[in-house]
Amino acid sequence: MARAQGQEGGGERFSFCMNAKPLRIAATADLHYAKTSKGHYKTLFQEASHEADVLLLCGDLTDYGLPEEAHLLVHDIRADVTIPVLAVLGNHDFESGHVEEVSRIIEESGVKLLEGECAEIEGVGFAGVCGFGGGFGRYMLNSWGEPLIKSFVHEAVEHAMRLERALGRLDTPQRIALLHYSPLRETVEGEPPEIFPFMGSTRLEGPLNRFNVAAAFHGHAHNGHAEGKTSANVPVFNVSLPVLKRTQPDAPWFRLFEVAREPEEALTHT
Ligand SMILES: [Fe+2]
Ligand SMILES: [Fe+2]
Repeated sequence: MARAQGQEGGGERFSFCMNAKPLRIAATADLHYAKTSKGHYKTLFQEASHEADVLLLCGDLTDYGLPEEAHLLVHDIRADVTIPVLAVLGNHDFESGHVEEVSRIIEESGVKLLEGECAEIEGVGFAGVCGFGGGFGRYMLNSWGEPLIKSFVHEAVEHAMRLERALGRLDTPQRIALLHYSPLRETVEGEPPEIFPFMGSTRLEGPLNRFNVAAAFHGHAHNGHAEGKTSANVPVFNVSLPVLKRTQPDAPWFRLFEVAREPEEALTHT
């Protein structure tokens, strides 16, 4: 697969050859690699490599966050993916307390984990963070009461701030956001309402609006809705694998999205 290099802080960025054609993005999420998953996503990986310029994996890369699962994932990526891969972690990747080792295994394969970091591919900027829960709109959990509630809210705020900083370090005309948790209620519709607060947080929406992101992709809401828009009309796509299988049964297990190198308004005026 094509490798890329980068580092937190925005000093060095991924950079591949520039051209005027739109960048083709293949986005998916919730692969939940388990000990039995070897080879299971061969078609997905091969078709994404054929149809897109970059593959986004929006969290829950592994099922239990085990190093063995991460090794199987990177084995399959190495075997069948020939385009750059950007990823964020999901809650399942934390489950067994080995998230540092899982992250190291994934990054050593050439996949770039965007945990509050940014990357640039062929002139398009990408920023990613796992995100966190807390709920949506006027019913969003606020920092009030018990210390545990305040810690929960602090975690959600921290993820939103990391997303904001990562987006701010990009100086590309177009920005794309990768999340695991949803920034919108709209794309978790279909899940039981009782668990909406654990599916995402409106706190993630503000950075997407302020930086006029071209599109945001997330997973986590396996039974959610495929598409939504932020209050500033930023398109948001739930690319959780079960959602893709349900909404595009005859298509590959990723969502294809083309992004122009420049925003349309900019192209119109030049
Ligand atoms: Fe998941
Ligand atoms: Fe998840």
